[in-house]
Amino acid sequence: MARHDPHSYADLAQGRIRHIVFRLEADFAQRQLRGTARYRLDMPARGPFDLDTRDLDVRSVSSSGRAVRFALGEADPILGSRLRLTDLAGADEFTIGFTASAEARALQWLTPAQTSGGRHPFLFTQCQPHHARTIFPCQDSPSVRFTFEADLKVPSPLVGAMAGAPAGRTPADGATVFRFTMPQPIPSYLFALAAGEFTSRDLGPRSRVYAEPDLIDAAAWEFAQIEDMLAEAEKLYGPYPWERYDMLVLPPSFPYGGMENARLTFLTPTMIVGDRSLTNLLAHELAHSWTGNLVTNATWEDFWLNEGWTTYAERRILGAIEGEDSAMLRAATGRNTMLRAIKNFGWKADPTRLKFSQAGIDPESVVSYVPYEKGYSFLVRLERIVGRPAFDAFTRKYIAEHRFQTITTEAFIGLLRRDLPQVFGQVDVQAWLFDPGFPADAPPFESSLIDDVSNRLFDYQEGRLPRREDVAAWATAQTYLFLQYLPRALPVDDCRALEAALALDRTRVPQFQSQFLEIAVRSGYRRCLPRAEALITTVGRMFIIVPVFQAMAQTEWSRPLARPLLEKVRLRHHPITVLAMEKVLLQQGL
Ligand code: BES
Ligand code: ZN
Repeated sequence: MARHDPHSYADLAQGRIRHIVFRLEADFAQRQLRGTARYRLDMPARGPFDLDTRDLDVRSVSSSGRAVRFALGEADPILGSRLRLTDLAGADEFTIGFTASAEARALQWLTPAQTSGGRHPFLFTQCQPHHARTIFPCQDSPSVRFTFEADLKVPSPLVGAMAGAPAGRTPADGATVFRFTMPQPIPSYLFALAAGEFTSRDLGPRSRVYAEPDLIDAAAWEFAQIEDMLAEAEKLYGPYPWERYDMLVLPPSFPYGGMENARLTFLTPTMIVGDRSLTNLLAHELAHSWTGNLVTNATWEDFWLNEGWTTYAERRILGAIEGEDSAMLRAATGRNTMLRAIKNFGWKADPTRLKFSQAGIDPESVVSYVPYEKGYSFLVRLERIVGRPAFDAFTRKYIAEHRFQTITTEAFIGLLRRDLPQVFGQVDVQAWLFDPGFPADAPPFESSLIDDVSNRLFDYQEGRLPRREDVAAWATAQTYLFLQYLPRALPVDDCRALEAALALDRTRVPQFQSQFLEIAVRSGYRRCLPRAEALITTVGRMFIIVPVFQAMAQTEWSRPLARPLLEKVRLRHHPITVLAMEKVLLQQGL
C-alpha cells in the first residue's frame, strides 16, 4: 500500500473522496454525535478502500442499498484504527452510519456553566490536525478535498452552525435541523460544527460574527475592521476565494486563539479585550483563507507552509492597516517567543526544524511557534533579497498555481528554483528548511516601537525599574514584547514593581497574564498563585496556559500544586488541552 502521509491510513491510489452528504445529530444527553455520511469517490473502487477512524463506532456500511463488508483495524495510539471497506465491487459511492464517542478528541461538550450565558449547553469541534477521524470516517489527510452538504439536528432552542454556507432550517419535534452546503472543496481538518445559544451581527457585506448573546456587542465592536482586512488581503493575494468570511466566538475553553475553519473562523473569547489590540489574530485566521485553506500543506510535516506563510501574510495585512512599525514590533515578539521554544526543545531537537520526518510522532505534540516564526523569518529573508514587488509577484503566482491543491516543502523549493533562482546564491535554503536551531543570517526587525521597549529593558538591566508614566502610553504589543524580553525569574520585589508599573494585576490581555504569571511563579512571587490558578482554570487556550502550568510544575514551591490543579480542570477543559497538561506533568515526573 502506498501511504503518502504518515498521519493517515489513506491510500490515494485507491481513489479520493470528492463529496459527502452528512446527516448529523447532536445528542447532548448522551454526549453523542451520531450520523450517516454518503460518500462519492472520484472513481469506482477497484479493490479495498481505506479510511481513518478513531474511537468511532461504525454501525453500518452500505452501497446502493446493499451491505458492504468492512474491517476495523487495531487502534494505533497516533493514527487510530483503519476502516477497510473490503467489497465495494466497483461502486463509486457508499454510506456509513457512525457514532462519535463522548471522548472524541475533536469534540468538546460543555455544560451550561461552562458558557458565557450559563443557560444552555454548547458543543464545538476542533479537527486540525488529525481529529476529524474521531467524528466521521474520512481520508484524514490534507491532500484529500471534498465538498459537502449537511443536515445538523440540534435540540431546541440551540442554534447549529457549520463551516459552510447556511442553507435553511426546519423545526423537527423539540429540535431544529440546520442545513449547510460547502461549495468549495476542503480538506477534512477544516470541517467544523458548533451548537449552542448564539446570535449574530453583520459586520459588512460578506462578514458576520456569531457569539453568545451577552458577548455579541463586544465581539462586533472588536472585529469591526474585518472588511478592511479583507480588502488589504485581496490587494495582496487576489479575490477572496470563499465568498463569505464569518466568525464564531467560542466559550473560553476553546483550546486555540483561532482556527481558520473555511468560511467560519472559530475564535477564543479571550481576544475580546475592548481595544482591538489583539486583532492580529483576525488578520492571521483571515490570511489562512489563501495560505492554508486555498494552498494547503500536503502533510503535517509541511505545516510551516501553512503557518509560516500565514504569519507572513498576517503581518503584511497589519502593516497596511497599522503601519510597518507595528508589524515589525509583532515580528520581534514572535521571534523572541520562538527562540524560547527552541531553547526549550534544545537547539538540535527535531521540532526546531521546519521539516522533519514525523512518522511515529503525534503531529499535535510538536506544534510550537517554530513553524510560524522560523517560517516567517525565512520568507522575510527571501523577500529582502529579491525586494517586495518581486516577492509579491512570486507569492501571487504560488497561490494562483496551487489554489485548492496541496504542496510539499520539496515542491516549494522547486518553485523557488524556477521563479526566484537568485536567492540560492545568498541564502542556504536547505539549512533554513531542514536544519535544527535558528540560522545566524536571520533578518533583523527594526522599529522605533521596538527601540522604546529595548531602552526600558536596558534601563532595567542597569537597575532602573520602569515607572508607570514611562510605559503608560505603550501599545499592547510593546508591553507584550517587554514581558517577553524579561528573564523568566526575577527578584520578588521587581515582580511587585513591574506588576504595578505595567498594571498587570488588572489586565484583561491574556498574553500579559500568561507571561507575567510564568515569571511570577518561577520567581517565587507567591501572591500571584490565585491568579495563576484562576487563569489556568478559566482559560482553555493552550498557548496561554501551558507556559504558566509548566512553570508551576518546574518550580519547587508550586510543584505539589500542579497535579491537583489538573484534576480540578480536567472536566472543564478541552480533551487536547488536558492532554497537553498531562504531557507537562509526565515530563516533570509528576
Ligand atoms: N491553525 C492554527 C491553530 C492550530 C494549529 C490548530 C495547530 C491545530 C494545530 C491557527 O491558525 C493558529 O495559528 N492559531 C494561533 C494564532 C496566532 C499564532 C495568531 C493561536 O491559536 O494562537
Ligand atoms: Zn495559523
